[in-house]
Amino acid sequence: MLLFLLLVLNSKTNAQIDPALCRYPLGMEDGRIKNDDITASSQWYDTTGPQYGRLNREEGDGAWCPAGQLQPSDVQYLQLDLRHLTFVTVVATQGRYARSSGNEFARKYRLDYSRDGHRWISWRNRSGNEIIVGNVNTYASVVKDLHPPIITRFLRLIPVTDAVHTVCMRVEVFGCPWQDGLTAYSAPEGQTMMAPGYPITSLNDSTYDGVLELLGGLGQMTDGVIGQDDFVPMLQYQLWPGYDYVGWRNDSLGPGYVEMEFQFDRQRNFTSMKVHSNNMFSRGVKVFSSVSCAFKPHLISEWETEPVEFSTVLDDRNPSARYVTVPLERRSGTALRCRFFFADTWMMFSEISFQSDTQPPTAPRAPWIGLPTAPGKCGGTSVLIGCLVTIILLLVVIIFLILWCQYVCKVLEKAPRRILEEEVTVRLSSCSDTIVLQTPPVPPRMSLDPPYERVFLLDPQYQDPAALRVKLPELSQSAECGGGYAEPDVTQCTPHQGFQNSVPHYAETDIVNLQGVTGSNMYAVPAVTVDSLTRKDISVAEFPREHLIFREKLGEGQFGEVHLCEAEGLAEFLGEGAPLPEQDGRAVLVAVKQLRADATSNARNDFLKEIKIMSRLNDPNIIRLLCVCVHSDPLCMVTEYMENGDLNMFLSQREIESTLTHANNIPSVSMADLLHMAVQIASGMKYLASLNFVHRDLATRNCLLDRQLTIKISDFGMSRNLYSSDYYRIQGRAVLPIRWMAWESILLGKFTTASDVWAFGVTLWEIFTLCREQPYSLLTDEQVIENSGEFFRNQGRQIYLSLPPLCPSSLFELMMRCWSRDIRDRPSFSSLYQALRPHAHHS
Ligand SMILES: *[C@@H]1O[C@H](CO)[C@@H](O)[C@H](O)[C@H]1NC(C)=O
Ligand SMILES: *[C@@H]1O[C@H](CO)[C@@H](O)[C@H](O)[C@H]1NC(C)=O
Ligand SMILES: *[C@@H]1O[C@H](CO)[C@@H](O)[C@H](O)[C@H]1NC(C)=O
Ligand SMILES: *[C@@H]1O[C@H](CO)[C@@H](O)[C@H](O)[C@H]1NC(C)=O
Repeated sequence: MLLFLLLVLNSKTNAQIDPALCRYPLGMEDGRIKNDDITASSQWYDTTGPQYGRLNREEGDGAWCPAGQLQPSDVQYLQLDLRHLTFVTVVATQGRYARSSGNEFARKYRLDYSRDGHRWISWRNRSGNEIIVGNVNTYASVVKDLHPPIITRFLRLIPVTDAVHTVCMRVEVFGCPWQDGLTAYSAPEGQTMMAPGYPITSLNDSTYDGVLELLGGLGQMTDGVIGQDDFVPMLQYQLWPGYDYVGWRNDSLGPGYVEMEFQFDRQRNFTSMKVHSNNMFSRGVKVFSSVSCAFKPHLISEWETEPVEFSTVLDDRNPSARYVTVPLERRSGTALRCRFFFADTWMMFSEISFQSDTQPPTAPRAPWIGLPTAPGKCGGTSVLIGCLVTIILLLVVIIFLILWCQYVCKVLEKAPRRILEEEVTVRLSSCSDTIVLQTPPVPPRMSLDPPYERVFLLDPQYQDPAALRVKLPELSQSAECGGGYAEPDVTQCTPHQGFQNSVPHYAETDIVNLQGVTGSNMYAVPAVTVDSLTRKDISVAEFPREHLIFREKLGEGQFGEVHLCEAEGLAEFLGEGAPLPEQDGRAVLVAVKQLRADATSNARNDFLKEIKIMSRLNDPNIIRLLCVCVHSDPLCMVTEYMENGDLNMFLSQREIESTLTHANNIPSVSMADLLHMAVQIASGMKYLASLNFVHRDLATRNCLLDRQLTIKISDFGMSRNLYSSDYYRIQGRAVLPIRWMAWESILLGKFTTASDVWAFGVTLWEIFTLCREQPYSLLTDEQVIENSGEFFRNQGRQIYLSLPPLCPSSLFELMMRCWSRDIRDRPSFSSLYQALRPHAHHS
């Protein structure tokens, strides 16, 4: 009974390779693949060398990164030496997460492989495509099944890019050892069957990877896919009729047989060959009538004269496709040449496998589970019983191991499988909106200071795209933006770091930043259509346009202007209890930001979005939106008027308070004023951070002051032309405030609350230099960008802003912490607020 069971199990697993079971991690993650066996065409730094390209590991700088930015024409690879021929069925890739400081990943890649280390073959899928779609973020591993699988020893993962990008990869490969040891087969190319009333059936070997037509390679006959009884329909791959078989027609091949040659990795003693063959005799297809195999002990020797002959029992009753097992009498060889004789007009094979002595006799293809080897010879009747007992015990152990193994296999299999069936990456409609919901790479940290890592919830419904769409109807309706894999560079498709992480804010995924109507609007805006935004989403009231009386122009930009206006009857309009804006005598003064009527629809969209965002913000240190005029063009938003203008202008016209300034009546500020300003900015930013709102452009120029020197954070983008030298233009498109930007924002386009903290540090520095100097004024824009590279490299060559003469050293230490390379080391806004507040009260 046990023996029978064992045989059944064995015949199932040992008959030939089963790609559905051959899915074991090959050892990148757990280190069975040694560092020495992982090489690369190049590496950016020692800390991003090939040995760091292990899936789910966070060593070095968190991944393998090839040197420099990857150009579309570049071929950079991570090469794995699997040491033995391996049947590779699955590849998983991941980007460089590096505890959330990484931002590089390979959006696409391809594979080259080599069985001998010399001849490299590019993998193609069954329809001839080389490119595999890879990652969409830095931490989620994307698992891809290889159809067809690869039989190889060396594997290269080659990131592919459409635009210039930095890429980094972590990988794992899955599969099992290729115990057949077959390195190549050759055969006549399969033919095409054309019969009236049937589809044209191509029986060629379409995945063959040899040098010539069916010479020196492997293909469909070793891919583990077995054809069906009817050879016409293909299995799962929507390809062409007859796909799963390689077939030949007798009369087109003179001699009445098909000759195939098989080469192996080394000399083996062959026990059998199994040929999966079609037997649809109604259409003239039968298994071979006989086969004759000759052996070659060494690759360069002659064929041995005495072949192994085998005749099949022909079956005219059962049309099932079947394995024909050909005993090979333990003959030894490194190559075989077999002639399969026709039994009918056609002969069709879908798979050929070889069994040789070197296989573990009992183990299923689970190589890393150490099975005891079967006992050797049991001689003599006296020991026979003992032997039987031993065998039975062993069988019990083996069965247990097999069952256990199958359980483990299932567990091992499940993860990648499930991912495959429903790629975990949930893409929400637009390229700027690739919201990826996954299990977190690290468990959420519990600490008082909110960490900056974006940790995703494990709630199962967040794995389900449909559930999400229901929750985010706006997003599900929005149009596709560009091709599915538009390169999300900073100018177009920056993911909204601020909103991915927690449930209460998912409704605000469309909140991007305070950027308004600047022509240079470089920040990603999800593709929520204007229609879905207007009217219904705007929670502030429509103000009668005719009651806005123009006073003067405050600023101007590509898409609009900011005017100072008198708002007649605004107090009544806003109603009782509404905090009244600044009053000039009887008139209420407001700032009116107005979009040009001919602005692009993108600018309109952004404008409405800014309205929507601002209407939800309610904090004493954030500029307040009072009302809007959106029922007709031009679109306007009405905000508080800040009489003292922006902080940059304000401070640059003042001296620090002293007896001299008093004596000469020079406009001045005290240290206490400066500290009070810093506290207010920290307070406003603390509020934004509590909403997971990323400002992205915090600077003194975006902090406004009213008459009482209350600071309100804003972004009057339209007046930016005053500060155009603060922004850096990339190819005329993006305008980036690089001197305020954290290194990861410059290099990786990553904007988070932590990068706002960096900008806060720069803003503090501006305040304590009284805005007399641009940050890094001695560096050119290019040098600033280089400097952020030094921050990334962290080899002590980065340049920090220097201690401003007015600045207390404790405060400078705080600034320096804001400029920590690792975002974990930067303080949060609430801790900044806590740290600054006592100083302000002090003096
Ligand atoms: C091959 O890859 C392309 C692109 O990734 C894909 O569209 C196609 O469906 C794949 N073909 C098969 C048979 O898997
Ligand atoms: C095999 O036949 C199909 C269908 O006729 C054809 O598209 C494909 O290119 C052929 N493949 C090879 C490798 O010849
Ligand atoms: C093959 O069999 C021969 C004797 O039959 C033995 O000497 C040899 O070691 C075997 N080779 C392998 C690779 O098992
Ligand atoms: C196959 O072809 C050979 C030579 O043309 C012929 O002698 C033989 O009878 C054919 N076999 C079958 C089964 O038709």
